[in-house]
Amino acid sequence: MVTEANPVLGERLTPPKDRLGQDPVPADVAYQLIHDELLLDGSARLNLATFVTTWMEPQARQLMAECVDKNMIDKDEYPQTAELERRCVAILADLWHAPFADRATGCSTTGSSEAGMLAGLALKRRWAARVNDRTRRPNLVMGANVQVCWEKFCRYWDVEPRIVPMTGERYHLDAEQAVARCDDDTIGVVAILGSTFDGSYEPIAEIAAALDELAGAGGPDVPIHVDGASGAMIAPFLDPDLRWDFRLPRVASINTSGHKYGLVYPGVGWVLWRDSDALPAELIFNVSYLGGNMPTFALNFSRPGSAVIAQYYTLFRLGRNGFRAVQQAARDVATFLSGEIGAMPEFRLITRGDELPVFAFTTADGVTGWDVFALSRALRERGWQVPAYTFPADRQDLSVLRIVCRNGFSHDLADLLLADLRAAVDNLNADRRPGTASGPSGFRH
Ligand SMILES: Cc1ncc(COP(=O)(O)O)c(C=O)c1O
Repeated sequence: MVTEANPVLGERLTPPKDRLGQDPVPADVAYQLIHDELLLDGSARLNLATFVTTWMEPQARQLMAECVDKNMIDKDEYPQTAELERRCVAILADLWHAPFADRATGCSTTGSSEAGMLAGLALKRRWAARVNDRTRRPNLVMGANVQVCWEKFCRYWDVEPRIVPMTGERYHLDAEQAVARCDDDTIGVVAILGSTFDGSYEPIAEIAAALDELAGAGGPDVPIHVDGASGAMIAPFLDPDLRWDFRLPRVASINTSGHKYGLVYPGVGWVLWRDSDALPAELIFNVSYLGGNMPTFALNFSRPGSAVIAQYYTLFRLGRNGFRAVQQAARDVATFLSGEIGAMPEFRLITRGDELPVFAFTTADGVTGWDVFALSRALRERGWQVPAYTFPADRQDLSVLRIVCRNGFSHDLADLLLADLRAAVDNLNADRRPGTASGPSGFRH
């Protein structure tokens, strides 16, 4: 690298940390210094913590780069981008068995969090129209395993979160607990496909049947929102007979993250309503903008069109069979890894990766001297990012490691992870025996 600020040549140029620099710097210099700082980030491909896509085909990258300057909101100026968004909504509506897929109601968002906010708002508005009494406070029923976006929704929009704690070996919401918390002020039940904590699917059909029974017996008629951030792009391909979607009349809306198992780089999400009745018309703004009349339902205004275009590329490129093959490969890697790890005497599996290709495991009874946090740190020494974390109420006594298998995490990489994990466990076991410490790196091969 030969630039005006070549650190090798001893020139010192410090990027601004707190206030804007006085003068411009050459583009090459700015690029190189920022590029170099980013070397400190972990490798995205070795990040087994994230659900978000870390590998796409070069053609998808090229399309995204070509469209990076398109603002999704300028539908009048970029009508074909708007058309690709419409096609994605229609395809998802069909995939999720919307009763009128041709009249699909939905939109793209920046991710599942925004999608959840919009779906929650629709639920709240429908409840408000029903009870028509401003003195009452709405509530939303969900498991303690919900992603933080639902707690955010409740706080931002003044809704009481009715959280079902975990208990014993029940790590997510079930029908009995959900129904027990519903009353006339319940705007909905959030059911998750699948849980962020351990990759398990919540029993959505059972929850729907129990809510049907409640309504049938004269109780409140409570809709379900399915948070399918990950699973709504897994189950249609790998579990086609599982009834979790608009086939269940009680499911009012569904969200997914296009940037998770929708196989697109961040940030794109989707939210769909079963029909226009489930989305109160007053939430849709008809904006007159740059000569066009545009219906919008979104929290923000401008956002990049490139991720939506990449979503359409992925849907077009893979088709049903391609999606099935990619998701099956991820599930195969997950179940292979969980099988190997579950067979080690040091571990107990919480899930097997046979729902979402995601599984959690903890240390077996009798493991002393190290824990999942120590193992997570040891794996980091080889570049693997495998998070260790504690479960929510009432299982804060349980700490686990979670592995998210995604497109691009091949069997070969899984074999390498396994070898490193076995070596790390050997070292941790050896370190706690007197006189057998393995030196400063703590890692032997
Ligand atoms: C179940 C669930 N819901 C919502 C979210 C939030 O999704 P996003 O990051 O797309 O906003 C996540 C993220 O992990 C999730 O797992």
